Amino acid sequence: MNVLLLGSGGREHALAWKLAASPLLTKLYAAPGNPGIAEQAELVALDIANHAAVAAFCRDMKIDLVVVGPEAPLVAGIGDDLRAAGIRVFGPSKAAARLEGSKGFTKDLCARFNIPTAAYGRFDNLAAARAYVEKVGAPIVIKADGLAAGKGVTVAMTLPEALDALSACFDGSFGSAGAEVVVEEFMTGEEASFFCLCDGTTALPFGTAQDHKRVGDGDVGPNTGGMGAYSPAPVMTPEMVDRTMREIIEPTMRGMAELGSPFAGVLFAGLMITDQGPRLIEYNTRFGDPECQVLMMRLKDDLLVLLNAAADGQLGHMSVRWLDEAALTVVMAAAGYPGAPEKGSVIRGIDAARAEGAEVFHAGTAVNAGALVANGGRVLNVSATGRTVGEAQKRAYAAVDRIDWPQGFCRRDIGWRAVEREEGR
Ligand code: AMP
Ligand code: GLY
Repeated sequence: MNVLLLGSGGREHALAWKLAASPLLTKLYAAPGNPGIAEQAELVALDIANHAAVAAFCRDMKIDLVVVGPEAPLVAGIGDDLRAAGIRVFGPSKAAARLEGSKGFTKDLCARFNIPTAAYGRFDNLAAARAYVEKVGAPIVIKADGLAAGKGVTVAMTLPEALDALSACFDGSFGSAGAEVVVEEFMTGEEASFFCLCDGTTALPFGTAQDHKRVGDGDVGPNTGGMGAYSPAPVMTPEMVDRTMREIIEPTMRGMAELGSPFAGVLFAGLMITDQGPRLIEYNTRFGDPECQVLMMRLKDDLLVLLNAAADGQLGHMSVRWLDEAALTVVMAAAGYPGAPEKGSVIRGIDAARAEGAEVFHAGTAVNAGALVANGGRVLNVSATGRTVGEAQKRAYAAVDRIDWPQGFCRRDIGWRAVEREEGR
């Protein structure tokens, strides 16, 4: 099979690495890709926002399957446009990608199909939103409705913070994404990421992970896209997975079908495991980044077989096997992240890190005059497996220490919660 992978981050490098291991693969192309992905794929300089150009490339190169990594093209309808051109796609339709593209849509779906989530209100004007926030009080959560590159959520511990966040949304801080706002009840518990492969009818559980969103050790400092992750998430016991499937995922699949927008692709549920059980924080309609990296490290089965089955509505016949090991990934970021990152610093030591038994996925790199350089906020994902999260953590940091990149930084405590559990602390 000829496969085209869309995207350019660490998530896509992990997908490319796993796709390249498939005996079904003839040739892998990636657009736009990155220097790490170029180890597995031929990079193509396509503008993925130009769906007609992507379709033309697929026809010319006889692409059998397009795998869409990031959310923006899905929300913009690339799945529909490619399918209309007769091209097979792994990824949801525009209507199904509303689960990520509109927080209000997802909250209304939850209300209609009785899916446990935080109580909420939807607002398109500041006055009504303010009145609601003042009535409910803090802590409270303010969310821009649309895609805001992970920056549209404020967990406000005080009323003034909540009111500031509301003003920021309606002042256009998040562009059109903030024209509508969702205000939510503050939930407490332990967070977990839960993934399913979906084909419109069947949802196949596809692993669990925990992410570290804050930039600093001990989970302090500003939010990021994710500074590291590990899989599996200990809080997702078999019972908790069963409840999540029954109470959250299956009603979502039925609801989306009933609304005429059946969901096919990756359904990524951000969960809060509360005293009453799992509650939905939000949906994403693609793999998590860096969660995907640890899932790919643990996946025993052929990813291409599974993605084909999802694209063809055949997941009911499939099962998934995982390595009986934990995986952990450490994000190395450029100084300045999550603000404006410093670009262009030279990175050495990738081979030495790999010699430690780790995989090093590229997230934001470029090649400049023959040297590998930083070209984004999150730059490398150093990933390892082990019998325990603690062992995977030791191996990942041993590899991190082989990377020679003075302008980079990482958290030193990825996996701490699971390691504490393992050590019985
Ligand atoms: P999101 O960008 O929607 O993943 O939200 C970012 C983070 O905000 C989540 O990972 C949670 O830590 C937190 N969060 C979002 N919604 C809530 C909520 N209703 N209650 C508590 N924390 C929340
Ligand atoms: N790591 C969180 C996300 O991909 O949304």
